[in-house]
Amino acid sequence: MCGIVGFIGKENAVEITIGGLEKLEYRGYDSAGIAYQTNQCLTVCKEKGRVSALKNKLVDAKSSIAIGHTRWATHGEPNQVNAHPHLSLSGRFVIVHNGIIENYQKLKFEYLDTYTFKSQTDTEIIVNLIEYFSKTLHVEEAIRETMSLLEGSYACLVLDTYNFNQIYFFKDKSPLLLGRGPKGFSFSSDITGLIGVAEEYAVLEDKLFGVVEENKITTKDIIGLPKKIIFSPIAISEEEIDKKTYDHFMLKEIYEQPMMIRHIISKYFKGDEMQISPKLIHHIKQSDKVNFVACGSSMYASYFAKYYFEKLCGIPSEVFCASELVYSTPLISKRPFFIFFSQSGETADLIAVMKKVKQQKYPMLTITNTMESSMVRLSNYALNIYAGKEIAVASTKAYTAMVVTSAILARSISGAKTNLKNNLKGVSLAIEKVLENKEICKGVAKEILQCNDLFYIGRGIDYWTALEASLKLKEIAYIHTEAFSSGELKHGPIALIQQNTPVIAIITQEGTNQITRSNLAETEARGAKTYVISSKGVSTPEDDIIIPNVAHYLSSLVSVVVVQLIAYYTAVLKNNDVDKPKNLAKSVTVE
Ligand code: M6R
Repeated sequence: MCGIVGFIGKENAVEITIGGLEKLEYRGYDSAGIAYQTNQCLTVCKEKGRVSALKNKLVDAKSSIAIGHTRWATHGEPNQVNAHPHLSLSGRFVIVHNGIIENYQKLKFEYLDTYTFKSQTDTEIIVNLIEYFSKTLHVEEAIRETMSLLEGSYACLVLDTYNFNQIYFFKDKSPLLLGRGPKGFSFSSDITGLIGVAEEYAVLEDKLFGVVEENKITTKDIIGLPKKIIFSPIAISEEEIDKKTYDHFMLKEIYEQPMMIRHIISKYFKGDEMQISPKLIHHIKQSDKVNFVACGSSMYASYFAKYYFEKLCGIPSEVFCASELVYSTPLISKRPFFIFFSQSGETADLIAVMKKVKQQKYPMLTITNTMESSMVRLSNYALNIYAGKEIAVASTKAYTAMVVTSAILARSISGAKTNLKNNLKGVSLAIEKVLENKEICKGVAKEILQCNDLFYIGRGIDYWTALEASLKLKEIAYIHTEAFSSGELKHGPIALIQQNTPVIAIITQEGTNQITRSNLAETEARGAKTYVISSKGVSTPEDDIIIPNVAHYLSSLVSVVVVQLIAYYTAVLKNNDVDKPKNLAKSVTVE
């Protein structure tokens, strides 16, 4: 949520910063802005909307130093005034900020009551506090004094117009990476923004303050003691974040799933043996209950993890929605184990829970696509889902990768002789078949395009897929969609069925096949336009989309691709911005 970028060095910092913002745009796209220096003068340029609008205004701009921002609005409407960078009152300092300052009203009242503010943002408080303290302190001390007062989360880059040879940076809770390469030093909220600019990167720790000049880095903790940072090589390439010939990243990512599953197999299997740390397995086995915590699609993926853990390992498990868990106090068992699912590894709702769990000293595993993330650093253990960079805001391959990784982990814990590897290979082939027949999904998309409400139904495994299906359609096609356990329809929701309301049933399991069909028929009798997505083994010739059979406990990995495609084509046919749906952002770093 919000992306910040910065560069100081031998190349054109404006071009590099705009390039970085384009790569980070999926983190927020309400507005974009940049600050840079030419001939010892500061230029601030910001635009409502996309980075492309900003880029058009900067065609000939050149500088050796720049900071930039792409925004997902939290305080104040998404307009040009609230766009970053923000200047201090005198114009001496300029800042870009990712995060939320919770006590900004209090700080405004206590320190800045004579200041006038131009925007409605919390960020303007930070830059003006720096200005306020720099009247009596050195800039470095003024920033650290400001840091000591801030409550909430922040990753900030600051330029001082009295000395254009350096970028100040400081952070707490919001992610910030520092890149190093022959061109100079660069900053980014995530690794994508550093690709092609830096060769190495350092993940900056919380409460770190620092300053970079063209050839020098200084880093300190909040009280001014020197603090070392560690650089690692950047392993991700430009190619990985290229859309190639696909119309959208979402379609590319849907298509990557078969190959991705083979890649996950290659990472977690050596021959037929699974390669999960014995220490982690031992630790989970000792627990009396596993608590899965996640949000959005990752939470829906974790329902499968619960199912695998209970069925295969016999360990009682429960799924918690992170944003609920953080403000509730459920009964915790004697020897709990916490497993967090997150594509980004930066989701604020999850981090808030993790901090509470850490206080209790309960063991934690993060299952993620981002091994350099804050959540990994907070955990005792981490497992990579190896999905490769996911750019589209709507999660597709990360969801499937989480389900696959959960199956592998559960099988490793159970120690059972297993056919999982071959079963997963079967899943990749089945997904390829679904992709070959994508026109059928497009056909369904055409039919549901104009509807106001739509219902996905299923039971058991298929109900969890229905939840994900409904989220996909909501977030990119903007259609009001609900998922119901098909048995629950008659307890209330069936009252919503009107003439031609689309109801899509997902049926992949023998045990719930007939009963789900009966529930679907009940909606049809009340006017619904019904569709069936079924596995071949339980299908009837009239079913709308029939998917290949795979091991029954993995069937959702195939049916979910159908619903991803239906959502994708519906959004395309509605001319929606598929990769950057309205009001959303990829990485949700605010609670
Ligand atoms: O990065 P995370 O997996 O923690 O993100 C969780 C949700 O924000 C995410 O899955 C969201 O629901 C997606 N937009 C779904 O497509």
